[in-house]
Amino acid sequence: MKAIKPLFVTQLYVSKLSDINGIDILELEASCHSIAEDDLAGQKWCEDNGYQGYTSYASLTDLVWRFPIFNELKDILDLHVARFVKNLDFDLNNRDLILEDMWINILNDGGSHGSHIHPHSAISGTTYVSIPKEAGEIRFEDPRLQLMMSAPPRKIDARPELKTFHTHKPAAGEVLLWESWLRHEVRQNQAGLERVSISFNYKWSE
Ligand SMILES: [Fe+2]
Repeated sequence: MKAIKPLFVTQLYVSKLSDINGIDILELEASCHSIAEDDLAGQKWCEDNGYQGYTSYASLTDLVWRFPIFNELKDILDLHVARFVKNLDFDLNNRDLILEDMWINILNDGGSHGSHIHPHSAISGTTYVSIPKEAGEIRFEDPRLQLMMSAPPRKIDARPELKTFHTHKPAAGEVLLWESWLRHEVRQNQAGLERVSISFNYKWSE
């Protein structure tokens, strides 16, 4: 009997925030812009580091306390992460996965975010606030890519789970989760409008 089994599977969690609980996306978007306008340290960091737009990544660690809607978002994300953890069969040994940080990304037209991982975390993700047409997609990379020295490439029409890259076109209100070691990038925003998202890391508590 022939058996071909998928091994070492990489899971990408794709859902809508509203699948667990609704949130006012317009209020979330207004809060992102309001914070961006006030955060001079963040604006300076973006200028110094060539970030095309605004991110609170390097300047603010207290979004959840700043505006109640971010706390509301945290409560919803906690439940999505719990679902994902269940599906991953993690043995957490009575220690929780807890929100470590959460940050705003406002990517201008022409902006992108190069390939990276999120070190020191267990689960990372993004929820999408404003995604105009032609806004940059997120692209995930097979973590075994560096091992494929003599491997033939995959066919253009290979099954999605066999492809070396997976590109996802996000939508407002959507939430994506993945294990933090999974390398990803945001492709160039060609929408002519801002692309607004909120990213976050969950770590394994002590
Ligand atoms: Fe990221």
